[in-house]
Amino acid sequence: MQSAYAYRPIRDSLRVVRAIATNQLARVWPRAYMRLTSETGRGPDSAGDTAEETARYFLESVYEYMDQLGVARSEVGTFWKGRRILEYGPGDTPGVALLLAGLGAQSVLCVDRFALVRFDDYQQSVIAALCKLLPDDAARDRLRGCFREPGNFASGLADGAVSYFVTQSGLLGRTAVVDMVISRAVLEHVDDLPATLRDMTAALVNGGVAAHKVDLRSHGLHRMNRLDFLTWPDWLWRLMFSGKGVPNRVRVDRYRVEAPRAGLVLQKLEVCERATQDEVAQIHPHLAREFVDITKEDLAWLSFWMVCRRA
Ligand SMILES: C[S@@+](CC[C@H](N)C(=O)[O-])C[C@H]1O[C@@H](n2cnc3c(N)ncnc32)[C@H](O)[C@@H]1O
Repeated sequence: MQSAYAYRPIRDSLRVVRAIATNQLARVWPRAYMRLTSETGRGPDSAGDTAEETARYFLESVYEYMDQLGVARSEVGTFWKGRRILEYGPGDTPGVALLLAGLGAQSVLCVDRFALVRFDDYQQSVIAALCKLLPDDAARDRLRGCFREPGNFASGLADGAVSYFVTQSGLLGRTAVVDMVISRAVLEHVDDLPATLRDMTAALVNGGVAAHKVDLRSHGLHRMNRLDFLTWPDWLWRLMFSGKGVPNRVRVDRYRVEAPRAGLVLQKLEVCERATQDEVAQIHPHLAREFVDITKEDLAWLSFWMVCRRA
C-alpha cells in the first residue's frame, strides 16, 4: 500500500477493509449511515451537548459571522434585518437559520447534500432555547412563525423565511437570490469545492458577501499525528470514505486559487488553528502525492475563516 504511514500494518489493513465495506453502506443508505454514526449532529447522541449549550453554539456562530464581517456584536438586533441569506450544510438543526429569521432576515435558504434536519424532542428543546436567546418578543414571534403551526416546533418548517433543500450535489443551483452566503464546518466536506464556490457566486447578487469557517482537521480520522490522514492516496481515501461526508482533504492553498477562479474576491483568509512544526515535519516525507507540493505553512493550517465578495 503506497505511503499509508503504516506503522501498524495489520491494524491499518483491517481498518482499510472495514472502511471500504462501510463506505458501500454509506453510499447506498446515506441518511441511515449519517444518523447511525451521528456524524453531523449536535446533542446527546454525538457531542453530548445539552439543548441550551447547542442553542448557545448557534448564537455564537451568528456572532462570529458578524465578527468576520467587521460588524459589532451590539448590532445583532439590526444587522440581519431584511437580508437574504444562503447557508450551506446546517446539520440536523437549522439553528443559525432560525436565529437569523428571528433577527429579521427576509429569507434563509439552507441547502445540504444529506437530509439531516429533523424536529425530534432534542431539536425542539434546542429551538425553545434559541427563542430564549432572542432579544425581544417580536424576534421570538418571527422564529415561532417559521413553523407550520407557529410555536409548534414538531410541525415542521412552514413555507416562510427559512427553507431547506436537499440536493444530490449539495448545491443550490439558483442565480442572484441572496446577498450573503454562510457556512460552518461544511466546505471541508463538499464533493467538489470549485463547483460549490461557483454555486455560491451564482446565488449571490453583485457585491454580496460570503463568510465560511472551514475545519481542515481529520474529523477523528488520524492515527498518531493530526496530519497523518493526508498520507492516504486519494484513490484509497475515496474508496474508504466517499459516501460518508468525511473531509475532502482539500487544503487552504486550493481555496486561495479556486475562490477567485469562481468569481469571488478574497477579502480574508485567516488561520484559526495550526499544526505544530514538528507535526508537519514528521508527516512531510509520508504525504500522499496530492499533497507534496503544498508549502509547510499551508499544510499546518487546521482551520480558518474565509470571507469573500462577489466581484
Ligand atoms: C459538521 S456538519 C456542520 C453542521 C452545522 N453547520 C454546524 O455548524 O453544526 C457538516 C454539514 O455538511 C454537510 N455535508 C457533508 N458532506 C457534504 C457534501 N459532500 N456536500 C455537501 N454538504 C455536505 C452535512 O450534511 C452537514 O450538514
